[in-house]
Amino acid sequence: MPMKAMVYHGAGDIRFEERARPTLLAPTDAIVRMTKTTICGTDLGIWKGKNPEIETTAKARTGSFDGRILGHEGIGIVEEVGSAVTNFKKGDKVIISCVSRCGTCENCQKQLYAHCRNGGGWILGYMIDGTQAEYVRTPYADNSLYLLPEGLNEDVAVLLSDALPTAHEIGVQYGNVKPGDTIAIVGAGPVGMGCLLTAQLYSPSDIIVVDMDDNRLAMARELGATHTVNSGKEDAVARILSITQERGVDCAMEAVGLEATWDICQQIVKEGGHLANVGVHGTPVRFSLEKLWIKNLTITTGLVNANTTAMLMKTCCSGKLPMDKLATHHFKFDELEKAYDVFKHAADEKAMKVIVDL
Ligand SMILES: NC(=O)c1ccc[n+]([C@@H]2O[C@H](COP(=O)([O-])OP(=O)(O)OC[C@H]3O[C@@H](n4cnc5c(N)ncnc54)[C@H](O)[C@@H]3O)[C@@H](O)[C@H]2O)c1
Ligand SMILES: [Zn+2]
Ligand SMILES: [Zn+2]
Repeated sequence: MPMKAMVYHGAGDIRFEERARPTLLAPTDAIVRMTKTTICGTDLGIWKGKNPEIETTAKARTGSFDGRILGHEGIGIVEEVGSAVTNFKKGDKVIISCVSRCGTCENCQKQLYAHCRNGGGWILGYMIDGTQAEYVRTPYADNSLYLLPEGLNEDVAVLLSDALPTAHEIGVQYGNVKPGDTIAIVGAGPVGMGCLLTAQLYSPSDIIVVDMDDNRLAMARELGATHTVNSGKEDAVARILSITQERGVDCAMEAVGLEATWDICQQIVKEGGHLANVGVHGTPVRFSLEKLWIKNLTITTGLVNANTTAMLMKTCCSGKLPMDKLATHHFKFDELEKAYDVFKHAADEKAMKVIVDL
């Protein structure tokens, strides 16, 4: 049966087109009928050509590449489960994690789910078809779906697929944010905003948010930033050093994925501090080891493991993370191309997270 989906065909080429509805391939799979999906900065990166491995891996595996349905976020209703799925049944409302995990391999046993060795990890909308479609096949459904809690705002639930756990795990936890810390978040997209909100669970004293979009900086102030810096209008490094009495920050989080923003981060971390890179980089960056070696820094990078999703879900249910403010735009599914257009021009459109309802 056909369905509509947003399909990546190669750098610069995505098409909203008809594809075949997914079917169960393994007994651990589920098929989920999507009810809400969204677009990630990573999807824009794929569209721009940051992830050519999508085509090269498909070609290496099957000899050809006939497109990949994008999307690794969203919620939906379980349509069908494989014979080995025990935690979910047809009709359950679920949050889909961007990371699929077998739960038993060496890496899953270390909670390094991003690197599941049995074909899991971040595969949705990347190595297999994703959630920007009417239906999606979710591998290892028992370990990779979450029952949608009663009463949780469904737009917030969408942010639990990726943006919030990414921000919390790869930004805040890897960045070792502690009470009293001075921190800087470079990039105020949904991931940067997630860093801003989840960092506050750990009581830092000063939170500096850097972006080039004044609307996003205004939202950052609303959500708890104590200082904001527009790096398009002023020298971000000089300003951050001045805010911190020339000391620098305890933790800098890079939530953009560009050399310019990485460079800001590597210049503002004080001795003994943490630089947590969250952004997906498509090209090499200059790594100023000649200046950094002496600083006793910790530099971390990584792909979200989604090992804190359940915990964040409870925090969202308790109302402690006002994530709903991030859902600035809503579109119907047949307007998905328009949603891409708005998200691509987020600054002009004053958009943060675009929610697509099916
Ligand atoms: N590590 C992971 O597991 C993981 C998971 C999800 C997303 N990501 C990555 O996190 C990054 C952020 O994702 P997002 O969805 O928030 O993206 P986004 O594109 O919505 O946000 C990026 C922000 O950076 C700002 N920006 C761009 N260039 C800048 C510059 N030169 N100086 C200052 N600010 C600049 C933009 O205005 C925007 O607000 C992306 O690179 C995405 O691929 C990583
Ligand atoms: Zn993402
Ligand atoms: Zn595994």
